[in-house]
Amino acid sequence: MIVLGIETSCDDTGVALYCSKRGLLAHTLFSQVDTHQLYGGVVPELAARDHTRKVIPLVDTVLCEAGVTGEQLDLVAYTRGPGLAGALLAGAAVARSLAYGWGLPALGIHHMEGHLLAVLLDDKEASFPFVALLVSGGHTQLVDVRGVGDYRILGKTLDDAVGEAFDKTAKMLGLEYPGGPVIERWARQGDSSRFKFPRPMTDRPGCDFSFSGLKTFALNTVQAWRQEHELDDQTIADVAYAFQHAVVETLVIKCRRALEATGYKRLVVAGGVGANSALRAGLGEMVGTCGAELFYPPMELCTDNGAMIAYAGFLRAGEASAAEEGFDVQPRWSMEELAPPVV
Ligand code: KG4
Ligand code: ZN
Repeated sequence: MIVLGIETSCDDTGVALYCSKRGLLAHTLFSQVDTHQLYGGVVPELAARDHTRKVIPLVDTVLCEAGVTGEQLDLVAYTRGPGLAGALLAGAAVARSLAYGWGLPALGIHHMEGHLLAVLLDDKEASFPFVALLVSGGHTQLVDVRGVGDYRILGKTLDDAVGEAFDKTAKMLGLEYPGGPVIERWARQGDSSRFKFPRPMTDRPGCDFSFSGLKTFALNTVQAWRQEHELDDQTIADVAYAFQHAVVETLVIKCRRALEATGYKRLVVAGGVGANSALRAGLGEMVGTCGAELFYPPMELCTDNGAMIAYAGFLRAGEASAAEEGFDVQPRWSMEELAPPVV
């Protein structure tokens, strides 16, 4: 079976082909970062327009690279939600139209399920059950994953997603968007002894998170410094370090709790923030002390991509419907509403 996957939930247009026998045949991505950088964050209307422009050329690219035609495919999978409504609609409309034209079924996929199953594309040893830490620009969740479609949320953010907190903190430091990779770079030059940020909600039981206070703490730190001085490079680096260190320690504490609560020995990390090397180091150390194993998708599949959508489409192919039935998207959609695949 060959599945075309189309991801358009936010600011990356991802397109890929997954083959059940040969694995990933091709995957390509267009990042809209340059467009949104000017505004310091994603502008939904511009995102939707850019997806509309880019999806078809990217589909042509993957078909050409894999040497297959549309008619030879078995399924078109696309991101149905959660995400930006206009961006989701742009991808869904193209995916459904292509499927209709090629006489194929189409299937809408949950973006976060795509993220958490992407790990199986690389490392088949990451078997069920496992705890998943999903950390992206829109989500921060710890999930008890017993199998495909069998998810229980152990904890989630009560306010900002962790990626969003990285992006907002970077913006207040005058750094570019997206903030995560930039903060990570600046933090390498940071002095670890200068600022001490709080570890939000770690003094309370449970696995919920809160990151908006940390962002405000960063803002207050910067404003206090600015009353007397210019915002110099060393201060930017020191705030970046303190912020990132607090985020990492908080995530590590909650992940340890989730492993203890479930008794599982496997932790899967997915979503854009999973690319952060300080987080990877902190989690690596923690799992070492509690005899657990840590799994990640391949680096380029940590952030948004079409491969995870194609793969989730393959796992759920039994639910695909004929393309002429119309479609909707689901900008807000809890993973707990999903059920195991229909076989
Ligand atoms: O999963 P993703 O690509 O898109 C969403 O579904 O949101 O995640 C994007 C988020 C952004 O907030 C970005 O700043 C963050 O992931 N991110 C990082 C790193 N790379 C991307 N955060 C921290 N460190 C990184 N290296
Ligand atoms: Zn994502």
